[in-house]
Amino acid sequence: MDNLIMVIFGGTGDLTHRKLMPALYNLQLEGSLPKRFAVVSVARREKTDEVYRGEIYESVKRYSRNRVDGENFKQLASRIHYYRLSFDYADGYIELKRYLEDMDGRHGTDGNILFYLAVSPENFEVVTTNLNASGLASSSTSWRRVMIEKPFGEDLTSAEYLNKCITTVFGEDNIYRIDHYLGKEMLQNMLAIRFANSLFEPLWNNRFIDNVQIISSETKGVENRGSYYEKAGALKDMMQNHMMQLLTLTAMEPPVDLSANSIRDEKLKVLKAIRPFTEDDIRRNCVRGQYGPGRIADKPVVGYREEEKVSPDSNTETFAALKFYIENYRWAGVPFYIRTGKRLNNDFTQIVIEFKFLPGIPYFKNNAEVSPNLLVIKVQPEEGTYLQFNAKRPGTRNTIQPVKMDFCQNCEVGVNSPEAYERLIYDAMIGDQTLFTRWDEVEYSWRLIDPISRLWRSEKADFPNYASGSNGPSEADLLIRKDGREWRSI
Ligand code: BG6
Repeated sequence: MDNLIMVIFGGTGDLTHRKLMPALYNLQLEGSLPKRFAVVSVARREKTDEVYRGEIYESVKRYSRNRVDGENFKQLASRIHYYRLSFDYADGYIELKRYLEDMDGRHGTDGNILFYLAVSPENFEVVTTNLNASGLASSSTSWRRVMIEKPFGEDLTSAEYLNKCITTVFGEDNIYRIDHYLGKEMLQNMLAIRFANSLFEPLWNNRFIDNVQIISSETKGVENRGSYYEKAGALKDMMQNHMMQLLTLTAMEPPVDLSANSIRDEKLKVLKAIRPFTEDDIRRNCVRGQYGPGRIADKPVVGYREEEKVSPDSNTETFAALKFYIENYRWAGVPFYIRTGKRLNNDFTQIVIEFKFLPGIPYFKNNAEVSPNLLVIKVQPEEGTYLQFNAKRPGTRNTIQPVKMDFCQNCEVGVNSPEAYERLIYDAMIGDQTLFTRWDEVEYSWRLIDPISRLWRSEKADFPNYASGSNGPSEADLLIRKDGREWRSI
């Protein structure tokens, strides 16, 4: 691994405190940081290195998955620096450049810089432009990479514009667009489960699969992110990015090799094979919802419209469910049902593959207990795979009951599987783009989501339409029931 300086724009923000610094601490514990390494956190407020390190210590103590020991933290802290800069002050970047040269000399980091834009999307452009103008964004003797947080644009047009700004400065090969779901263990495991098992791969198509369900359910509400969420909603916050990544990994063809671009080529083909939603599709196959007041873990909670920085007559969806088809040789005719929502009754993310029934064998035909075979990829909180199949109930003549094989990965290897951000930061440090989204993936997922978003924004919904702590709006159940199916979760 090359030596490098990581420059975090947004060094005092939530993401840095909750995710980035704890991830760096855990990488340090595992000996996975470069030999010579420094972090420069850039933000607006005035602060000394000492004060900043103290604040980081508190956050790492609170959010790290490993206990913080003083010695290891001290080692990391000695490499953390704070730099004050107003992001729109162009001359400040020239001073920052000098400062980074000085840091490079002090820490011996060979001139390499990994920028992390942990700032709100309105700042992506100004930071990139100023990095470019100051000469910080390129070097002939060392490398530059940039990690960029979601949301990548608000729609296709703004994403295209943003992409142009960033690619002209850094070039696609140096851009690491974060979708933190790709850093989750079970998503990385998906290729192994699918392509390393003769038990699954031959059945992974429309001859044997009846439908696929991808479900992400959260009990939390919008917390203190009301002003961001008002503009995003579930469609842009979860569907356009995380849910699409779950989908493409589930549905893609085997890549020719495991290189970043071969995998991303296959994921892209899935998105291209989904027919864009027409207005009629949206009305028939897309359901939106917004939570009202209710109870979560036996405590009363307010509705979305009563949350901080949310309009009292907000039309923003906190729940979305879609049904669509992937029109290719493998999947033609298999419906994909995808749903995500906040303030629901449970916290989990699962991919459910529901297999077709076998042609009725006479003596099983009228047996009410025969259930479809299910393969469930449990993404979180438990990580693992679950297989449901039919067997005879012991002691009966021929009564069938569903039985299960349940593999809990994080029970076996301990609850401590690495956090997504550890893997992602590590990969960007070694220059592996596999777990980051390529521009065309972003582009095509916007092409799918944009028409839905436009229609939903233009028409007032009858919100709120589900209670906090419930299973979501009843229309979402109808969406699948009218096809004679049920949402499955285990
Ligand atoms: C984020 C969304 O990208 O993902 C949040 O902005 C959401 O609204 C979160 O809660 C879910 O991530 P995870 O890792 O907790 O499933």
